[in-house]
Amino acid sequence: FHVDWDISAAEKGGYEHFMFKEIMEQPKALQDTISPRIKDGRIVLDDITLSKEYIDSIDKIYIVACGSAYHVGVVGKYVIEKMLRLPVEVSVASEFRYMQPIVNEKTLVVVISQSGETADTIAAMREAKRLGARTFAIVNAVGSAIAREADDVLYTWAGPEIAVATTKAYSTQLTAIYLLAIYMAQHMNCLTQEQIDRYINALQTLPEHIAQILEHKEEIQYTASLHYNSKSIFFLGRTLDYAVALEGSLKLKEISYIHSEAYAAGELKHGTIALIEQGTVVVALCTVKELFEKMLSNIKEVKARGAVVIAVAEEGQTAIEQEADHIIYVPHCDSLVMPSEVVVPLQLFAYYVASLKGLDIDKPRNLAKSVTVE
Ligand code: G6P
Repeated sequence: FHVDWDISAAEKGGYEHFMFKEIMEQPKALQDTISPRIKDGRIVLDDITLSKEYIDSIDKIYIVACGSAYHVGVVGKYVIEKMLRLPVEVSVASEFRYMQPIVNEKTLVVVISQSGETADTIAAMREAKRLGARTFAIVNAVGSAIAREADDVLYTWAGPEIAVATTKAYSTQLTAIYLLAIYMAQHMNCLTQEQIDRYINALQTLPEHIAQILEHKEEIQYTASLHYNSKSIFFLGRTLDYAVALEGSLKLKEISYIHSEAYAAGELKHGTIALIEQGTVVVALCTVKELFEKMLSNIKEVKARGAVVIAVAEEGQTAIEQEADHIIYVPHCDSLVMPSEVVVPLQLFAYYVASLKGLDIDKPRNLAKSVTVE
């Protein structure tokens, strides 16, 4: 009797790649990040030292991060501004340091990092502190440099992430942003109890919705099988969908080496549309209800120039079927948490494309999991 013992395969839980395993772990990672923070219908963040007095004094939030964590910040800007009506600036850490940011003791600087060891993010955080700001870190790695140095830490409970291309860390960082925003709203009295209940309920149902999206993975695999030889793929969306488009595009280029760009759909006509030709693949994110009709027009514009359109839409938005070539539906949820759902099919799409190309998915060329040099 002989057993081939492969430690790495065992750690992959039977999956071929860590990235796929980590995509599949998202319902649990979200559950672990969200549920301990909800008590008696309120967001309770143990160990967070932000006082009501300090929260009331904040006049601006600055979100600073790199890579996918920066993309979480772009979603965060929309979410926090909508919930709190407080201005939010987002900056990549390597820029923040050199741009003489307008930051003082009334600025809450939110630093986001999976590893807690990204050199640029650490340096940006130190610069924010030097300028007198209070720092609030969203970190996955317990005890990392950022976790140790920030004034407050809200941990994401994604567990270890091995694949270079982040998936479950990104998703849990997003939920941490929602937790922070609702927590601050509770102190600022800027939302009604009914609104707070609605957001908390939306957060609680996310793990189940993501599990539903994952059940339909074969449909995304099929779509990927039609397009994995594309030279270039564009991602379009408006507001929150645009923020997720940035991450979908990055995920694809990181692991598949296909050229990709994310564009705010309304900006298309100012340049990018020149690049659309017969057969160009466009992924159109159409989940922002107020802008659904506008996205349908954008789809028509690119289709008229020969594009093949893969649309992501909310269940029930069947008008999309007249316009797009392939449709991925995601479950209905509150619009502010929709990015948490939309990103999942995009992760799967990138994964399947890279897998069909036979690439080294967990260790893409030239990339590091954590960039500890400036
Ligand atoms: C690297 C990784 C990215 C990550 C970024 C920030 O570039 O490849 O996936 O988003 O660093 O890393 P951090 O650990 O600070 O979240």
